[in-house]
Amino acid sequence: MRTKISPLKSEIQIKELDVKGDHRGCLVSIEGSIDAPFEIKRVYYIFGTKSGIDRGKHAHINLQQLLVCVSGSCTIKTQDARGEVIFTELEAPNKALLISGLVWREMLNFSDDAVLVVLADGHYDEADYIRDFNDFLQRAEHSQILE
Ligand code: TYD
Repeated sequence: MRTKISPLKSEIQIKELDVKGDHRGCLVSIEGSIDAPFEIKRVYYIFGTKSGIDRGKHAHINLQQLLVCVSGSCTIKTQDARGEVIFTELEAPNKALLISGLVWREMLNFSDDAVLVVLADGHYDEADYIRDFNDFLQRAEHSQILE
């Protein structure tokens, strides 16, 4: 069962993943409902992003995601329903960013070798996307009124 996150109960939280290292190197494991605070339904990854290109630029109606830059680095810019803007640098394979609730997100500053892995609690559904920033702002304002 997927949790319906109320728009104002958004979370933008850095999570440090446990690194199991030994003389051979390192390993990070992300288990659903343990390391990711949801059941993982989908994994996708973004790589080969051209220099100067920004991605994302959308919010979701009901989706939780955990983002990890497993190679290289990138910056995640988030804006929640209250208008708070946060820039998070993802530069280590054990640093994850949890995003849930009504949050506008943009991915910036991809290094050439960046591989951004995204775990999500829902299958791909275009109907879950808010791709227009003004639409996002209106929904954010509406959720404040309903609070
Ligand atoms: P897009 O939403 O533009 O990527 P982003 O917002 O992260 O920059 O997605 C690019 C294409 O990939 C688009 O045609 C939709 C498709 N897609 C899937 O088929 N499944 C997925 O899980 C995602 C995230 C995208």
